[in-house]
Amino acid sequence: MFGRVGAIAIDGQAAAGKTVVGRELALRLGCPFLDTGIMYRAVTWLALNEGVSMEDETALGELASGSAMRPGDRADNGLLLGDRMLGPELRTAEVDQHVSLVARVSGVRREMVRQQRDIAARACQDSGGIVMVGRDIGTIVLPDAHLKVFMVASPEVRAQRRYDELKSQGQAASYQEILDNALSRDRIDSQRADSPLAQAADALLVDTSDLTIEQVVGKILEGLESSAERTPR
Ligand code: DC
Repeated sequence: MFGRVGAIAIDGQAAAGKTVVGRELALRLGCPFLDTGIMYRAVTWLALNEGVSMEDETALGELASGSAMRPGDRADNGLLLGDRMLGPELRTAEVDQHVSLVARVSGVRREMVRQQRDIAARACQDSGGIVMVGRDIGTIVLPDAHLKVFMVASPEVRAQRRYDELKSQGQAASYQEILDNALSRDRIDSQRADSPLAQAADALLVDTSDLTIEQVVGKILEGLESSAERTPR
């Protein structure tokens, strides 16, 4: 259905390693990569900038509908919002603290899912596939994805990875705050009414707690090979 590589959906908990693994996989497969989390972050960033309340679902839905987004060309996880390139401003602690609230809003989700499906269809047509990561890609956005992966890791490992990442960027970080934030986001993401974080029935479960990036990428490539054997195209 999707041509050469097809759509690969990677879902999982906050900081389970989806982005770093997804980007590496896309590089190996020679297809585009989209981290859908940055789209929810962009709506949150806009709401914070424009003073829109995180409780005002109508205004948040309108912000999302008025925001055309595309993955940036840069390898560093940027996003084109209209003609403006956003990057580090989407990963601040302030955005981290509010993004789960924005991602609960059905009007926001509807618009993000619509844009994500368009991006996937175009990428599959132009490049033969896409690697898309998020929370609902295998369940809602691309239920016919060629391969679905669900990544998990212990909360302590996830918090330590994020702590190391911030430290390596020279940013101030508290391990305990990061751990609390990851647990709180897991709770909101998996308990929300609209498309909660959940493993698709046909997803490959990968616990990354004790695996290197290379080992996780290897497991996914194996999964891709065996799914190609099952459904030769
Ligand atoms: O992966 P991340 O931390 O950048 O995601 C930010 C938030 O967006 C997080 O609360 C989960 C939410 N999200 C979502 O609900 N659906 C997606 N497809 C991607 C992210």
